[in-house]
Amino acid sequence: MRTLTGLQPSGKAHVGNYFGAMQPAVQLQEEGDAYYFIADYHAMTSTHDPAELKANVREMAIDFLACGLNPEKALFFRQSDVPEVNELAWILSTVCPMGLLERCHSYKDKVAKGISASHALFAYPVLMAADILLYDSNKVPVGDDQKQHLEVTRDLVGKVNERFGEGTLVLPEAIIREGVAKVPGLDGQKMSKSYNNTLPIFGSEKPLRKTVMKILTDSTPVEEPKSTEGSVILDLYKLMASEGDYAAMVADHQAGGFGYGDFKKRLWEAYWEYFAPFREKREAIEGDLGYVDRVLAAGAEKARETAQGVLERVRKAAGLR
Ligand code: ADP
Ligand code: TRP
Repeated sequence: MRTLTGLQPSGKAHVGNYFGAMQPAVQLQEEGDAYYFIADYHAMTSTHDPAELKANVREMAIDFLACGLNPEKALFFRQSDVPEVNELAWILSTVCPMGLLERCHSYKDKVAKGISASHALFAYPVLMAADILLYDSNKVPVGDDQKQHLEVTRDLVGKVNERFGEGTLVLPEAIIREGVAKVPGLDGQKMSKSYNNTLPIFGSEKPLRKTVMKILTDSTPVEEPKSTEGSVILDLYKLMASEGDYAAMVADHQAGGFGYGDFKKRLWEAYWEYFAPFREKREAIEGDLGYVDRVLAAGAEKARETAQGVLERVRKAAGLR
């Protein structure tokens, strides 16, 4: 059983990334083989500054290690350290109908948000499929937003196996965690770097506290009961507070007499405490950046071995060898 997931190094890791991708990945590294990579080729579709890309890759590596990725248990590597993925992406492109990509929401969404409509952005789901299939992955933990890309990946497996023979590629499965499938951002939309509504995992205390206090709320007066439906504060609190504290906050919403400022303060405290051990670990890693380089190099070497084996099988099946 092999688990694989990729994280885009496109800015500061946030609470949505943690609960939607990092935490499930860290839990899954305990079961079977785990392959985790930093999707730097993907990031090139939106990050055009080379220095920024490089810095983001490093930050993401440190963040993921600080959040519990254990390189003794999981392979951790940079996508571009296994360039074989491009060849598989090309082979997949040859079986991929245009319509399959035209139906993908993320392309349209990203263009609508102002990301330039490059060929790479359009073909992105094919590269993502190659990321997954290059390692014969079985399980792919992702957030809800990546569900469609997993469906594309599964479609492509069907097409490759039909054209080149059963068993050419392994059919993967998406693991979408219920409840945390969509962590809300400060404004109630899905938390995302591209919506500028994130609560980062790391940073200094003052600005982070300000960020929590910025969460959008309605204008229900202090004394009145507050809605528990679709409350960003409650949804985030649930992820980071104990069950008892969460139940108490729900009860206080229903009772009235507590203002949103009070709820935000409780959320802030839960958040700050929840990520405290990760912050400590991050500081230690930052003091030894050579460690990060060694982890990524060792991960890439092993991942590449697997990749070359799978690619050789596909090349033969496709008539390239
Ligand atoms: P962003 O939307 O901020 O650019 P990414 O697209 O880089 O985040 O996402 C990295 C990983 O984190 C993906 O697996 C994605 O599904 C997951 N993820 C991102 N935002 C959320 C969220 N708000 N809730 C749950 N998972 C999320
Ligand atoms: N597309 C994913 C995202 O934006 C990142 C990613 C790239 C990925 N390749 C992947 C995730 C392969 C899982 C498997 O979040």
